[in-house]
Amino acid sequence: MSDTLTGVAVVGSANLDLVVEVSRPPRVGETLLGRSGGRFSGGKGLNQAVASARSGAPTRFCAVVGADEAADVLQQTLADAGVVAAVRRSADAPTGVAHVLAFDDGDNSIIVAAGANAELAPDDAVAGIAGAAVVLAQLEVPVPSVAAALRAGRGAGALTILNAAPAHAATIGMLADVDVLVVNETECAELDGIDRLHAAGARTVVLTQGAGGVTLHRTDEQPLHIDAFRIDPVDSTGAGDAFCGVLAAALSQGECIEDALVRACAAGAVVAQHRGATTQELSPASIAALVSSR
Ligand code: RIB
Repeated sequence: MSDTLTGVAVVGSANLDLVVEVSRPPRVGETLLGRSGGRFSGGKGLNQAVASARSGAPTRFCAVVGADEAADVLQQTLADAGVVAAVRRSADAPTGVAHVLAFDDGDNSIIVAAGANAELAPDDAVAGIAGAAVVLAQLEVPVPSVAAALRAGRGAGALTILNAAPAHAATIGMLADVDVLVVNETECAELDGIDRLHAAGARTVVLTQGAGGVTLHRTDEQPLHIDAFRIDPVDSTGAGDAFCGVLAAALSQGECIEDALVRACAAGAVVAQHRGATTQELSPASIAALVSSR
């Protein structure tokens, strides 16, 4: 990582999350009454940027939203968290929307209508990451734009992190420009497992396992497992994003990956204890409190 680069740049999606709390998924043709609902800021990119900024790292966020009221809600969330927003407003497409079913055990199912996220172009992405020490991207925006951000970040001397969510076969072709790959168990299986990822060039793979913690897989080293923090989850939406955002933030601040992963796990636990994919309760203090409770 070059000394002249600072902070975290996140390239990714911004969605309005329409959340319904419900006991189970509906069957085909069924109308199911939920307990309650709400509207929250979301999108994997926005959630990660907010978490990075709330954990104390200078953070900017590159995204495309619509020219609508939903975008105002998202912009306010970014401003409240102190994220520098390089957010373009599309004249043609609405802000992305995610329909989130939040189940009693804290788990969820999500369907995303990409809307303006689909308009994020490689030029937006390359401009958005300039000067950042750490570049973080996910796969809810067009693959060529993610690839361009990672390649430009790599070329400039930044540390690059790809959260391959949702899983996409194009991940394999981007690995040469990825320093740290973050996948959950489903995504890892869809990409044919850790060994294939290593064989395809992924040097460092972080496997997130929900309540099972995370495992760091590095080529030629023994896997390192880190336990999850014990919490009573309220809503796990965005917990994985908080993990990625705080991992990026901690690495941008010079922490070693082992310590950065512990902080990232704590951030995911803080978010999972609150409704919505981002929370004002995420802070350096709340992360430190959880870490020191071990
Ligand atoms: O990872 C959670 C996020 O996925 C939600 O906020 C939703 O918008 C989807 O992007």
